[in-house]
Amino acid sequence: MKPLRIALTKGRLEKDTVDLFEKMGLDCSAVREKGRKLILPVGSGEIEAVLAKAADVITYVEHGVCDLGVVGKDTILEHGTGFYEILDLGFGKCKFALAGPKGKDFFSGYATKTIATKYPNVARTYFEGKGMDVRIIKIEGSVELAPLLGLSDAIVDIVETGSTLKANGLEVIDEVTPISARLIANVASLKLRKAEIESLIARMEEAKKISQEK
Ligand code: PRP
Repeated sequence: MKPLRIALTKGRLEKDTVDLFEKMGLDCSAVREKGRKLILPVGSGEIEAVLAKAADVITYVEHGVCDLGVVGKDTILEHGTGFYEILDLGFGKCKFALAGPKGKDFFSGYATKTIATKYPNVARTYFEGKGMDVRIIKIEGSVELAPLLGLSDAIVDIVETGSTLKANGLEVIDEVTPISARLIANVASLKLRKAEIESLIARMEEAKKISQEK
């Protein structure tokens, strides 16, 4: 039988997923000692881990070259819905927030506001929900710079500990939505390999429950 192929978001979510796999009793030594290798066996060959960037995890799962994926809800909200979201893994917790210079009343005044963000779709949906017309500028990283440099009135970005905002004289104006890591599945894989995927999900849920009880 072909291994179930699961795309993992490289970095912290990859580490948290490997921890979860190990709690499930799966051997992850190949991933732990991966070097520069990007496709690695997990367990006794029943799973194959593919290490990818967050948005690419979605692309590989949507196109069916990976059966499953582990990706943040932030990437899911920004990049689409052509797959099933099947489990909240409970790690990688943070939030999307609207943030701006400390002490400024963002919602006052009539001038159109400018928002800098790495997540234009998330920002657009948020402001549409508020019935507010804003100008959105896409920034690739360290979005906190934009209001400091006078490019934007505020940002929509990920906040985890809040220390980046604090260190740069910014504060949360409004919380947009909570984020955590999700297990996603290719639509056809979920039909064709239902039993295998369901048994993996059950084991993941069990391991998640045990780690949450600790
Ligand atoms: C993320 C996010 C914030 C920071 C928030 O950036 O965009 O800048 O982390 O974390 P904190 O609330 O714990 O300070 P990341 O480090 O991923 O890099 P980037 O800015 O280049 O996207």
